[in-house]
Amino acid sequence: MLKYMIYILWILIFSSLTFLIITSKVSYSIKDLTITKKTANHINIEKENYANADYVNIENVNDVKIENLDKATNHTFIVNVTLENVGMKKYLEAKYSEFDIVYNEYVKKHNRIVAELLNPSSNLSELPKVVVVIPDMKTGYGNRLPGIVCGFLYSLITDRLFFIWGYNNFEDYYEKDFNHNWNVVINLYKNTTYRYMHYLNQYNDFQLVTRGNLSNEDISSHDILYVYTWDYACAPITSNPHYKKWFDKIIPDYKVFTTISLKLLRLHPNINKQIETFAEKNFSNYAIGIHLREKKLLDGMIIPVGHYSEVVNMLIIGMKNMNISIFVAADSNNGRTKLINSLRKAFNHHNNNSINIVYTEENLDSVNPVSLNPGSEVGALIDMKLLSLCDDLVITYSSSFGFIAAGWSQKASRQRGPFVIMPVKDLDSDLWLVDKIWMWGAMSSEPCMYLSKELIENEDEETVKTFKTNPLWMHFSQCHWYA
Ligand SMILES: *[C@@H]1O[C@H](CO)[C@@H](O)[C@H](O)[C@H]1NC(C)=O
Ligand SMILES: *[C@@H]1O[C@H](CO)[C@@H](O)[C@H](O)[C@H]1NC(C)=O
Ligand SMILES: *[C@@H]1O[C@H](CO)[C@@H](O)[C@H](O)[C@H]1NC(C)=O
Ligand SMILES: *[C@@H]1O[C@H](CO)[C@@H](O)[C@H](O)[C@H]1NC(C)=O
Ligand SMILES: *[C@@H]1O[C@H](CO)[C@@H](O)[C@H](O)[C@H]1NC(C)=O
Ligand SMILES: *[C@@H]1O[C@H](CO)[C@@H](O)[C@H](O)[C@H]1NC(C)=O
Ligand SMILES: *[C@@H]1O[C@H](CO)[C@@H](O)[C@H](O)[C@H]1NC(C)=O
Ligand SMILES: *[C@@H]1O[C@H](CO)[C@@H](O)[C@H](O)[C@H]1NC(C)=O
Repeated sequence: MLKYMIYILWILIFSSLTFLIITSKVSYSIKDLTITKKTANHINIEKENYANADYVNIENVNDVKIENLDKATNHTFIVNVTLENVGMKKYLEAKYSEFDIVYNEYVKKHNRIVAELLNPSSNLSELPKVVVVIPDMKTGYGNRLPGIVCGFLYSLITDRLFFIWGYNNFEDYYEKDFNHNWNVVINLYKNTTYRYMHYLNQYNDFQLVTRGNLSNEDISSHDILYVYTWDYACAPITSNPHYKKWFDKIIPDYKVFTTISLKLLRLHPNINKQIETFAEKNFSNYAIGIHLREKKLLDGMIIPVGHYSEVVNMLIIGMKNMNISIFVAADSNNGRTKLINSLRKAFNHHNNNSINIVYTEENLDSVNPVSLNPGSEVGALIDMKLLSLCDDLVITYSSSFGFIAAGWSQKASRQRGPFVIMPVKDLDSDLWLVDKIWMWGAMSSEPCMYLSKELIENEDEETVKTFKTNPLWMHFSQCHWYA
């Protein structure tokens, strides 16, 4: 199926017209469209991987036929829609993606100011203030991304420029809309003052993030704000009363990671091509992604691989005569083989469903010399993105890999989050405990914030209270051990 091909869509709807405006060549029929909520505000073009939120109000998808759809360079599409039985009133006023506008403006501003900075005859009276993200290249592939997203968010809301320091060969992996390599301007900032917003687990100014003004006099006196974290440490900013209006307008669905990562962390076209080819070939109408993480377990914890099959079993209740794909990613060749064998055994013939177990050939027993992660960076990114393109995700507790995958598209697990498998202590005794949590379904596909447990434990009452005004606070704080 062509189902998994593709790009971000922004559909512009005009209330006064009987068609959506957008350009195009390919003809898509109505079968290619899924409206995730019957009445509103989310249209998903199934042929698009990252099919994006739009503000569409269509009551019945069967009433709409999209005839022409094409990809334009800036991810804007012009679609000519013929309305058959739909009255015009079912369409809302045109709404553009607010974040798109903010992002595009940022890119222009960044390019303009950096060009000025680098121009020897420039007479800028003072250096622009910046946010600099320091990704930890020694940590898991998934752990590098939350800090980048957080730093970009801070730069937007504080009107600072955004840079990344030390992500080796970033451009080999991602597409860049602007040059955010800190090395380009670092010399100009030799004598300036800095402050860390986040420094791994040692220092995090959660009071500031949760309820402060990030442009107050104290913070503004520093030219550089550093973000150095493995965690999705900016999550509490969506609780912050100072920025409520901004989020309500720009990212009202709280999918901050998804919204930003789909712009800032788009994979390089060469890598994307491999992902599309794989998905097109191997993913059927319904794809379940599984990420097994065994290496990180503490304290003799184990994960019975059979538990992943159990969740798949629940997901396909009621499905008959379907083509189902199960995409498997793991952190060792042995783990992957075990999981595949277990799934094969469980789903050989199941209600006449054709169940296809697929995986990339990445050698997970090779080790990245810097990060000590299994496999190669590009292999990991491919696995992570393929997971994110699955319709549902079954992931492993305390590994950010699966949660980052869930957040890195609009697709995985749709409106809810991934299913999370809990490790257990010991097969013989622990498995019989009745109060054990075997698995749970996350409420959101936003990454977890393991330090939110520390926030709740150590911050002042006002900060904790404010953090808990966030509708996702429980989600953020239960997805990881806090060590
Ligand atoms: C994106 O495409 C639309 C329609 O072709 C055009 O009007 C708009 O100016 C473009 N925006 C950018 C930022 O290129
Ligand atoms: C959309 O359809 C109308 C009416 O059939 C036609 O006049 C117009 O050229 C079409 N626009 C595009 C972009 O295909
Ligand atoms: C330098 O500053 C002057 C006055 O502020 C301005 O008119 C001029 O365009 C600036 N030159 C450059 C190269 O930015
Ligand atoms: C930094 O400060 C030193 C000593 O005050 C000065 O010599 C140097 O020119 C300054 N460098 C920049 C880039 O401003
Ligand atoms: C933060 O404080 C600055 C300086 O006092 C003020 O200009 C700005 O409007 C405040 N921002 C927010 C979001 O409250
Ligand atoms: C899926 O597609 C790729 C091509 O990208 C192929 O190499 C792979 O072996 C296919 N099959 C499975 C079972 O993963
Ligand atoms: C499942 O896949 C087979 C082979 O590709 C195809 O013939 C069949 O129509 C598919 N069934 C469904 C329900 O999509
Ligand atoms: C599987 O398909 C066969 C042949 O079409 C049919 O007789 C049988 O009832 C189906 N089984 C299930 C569980 O749907």
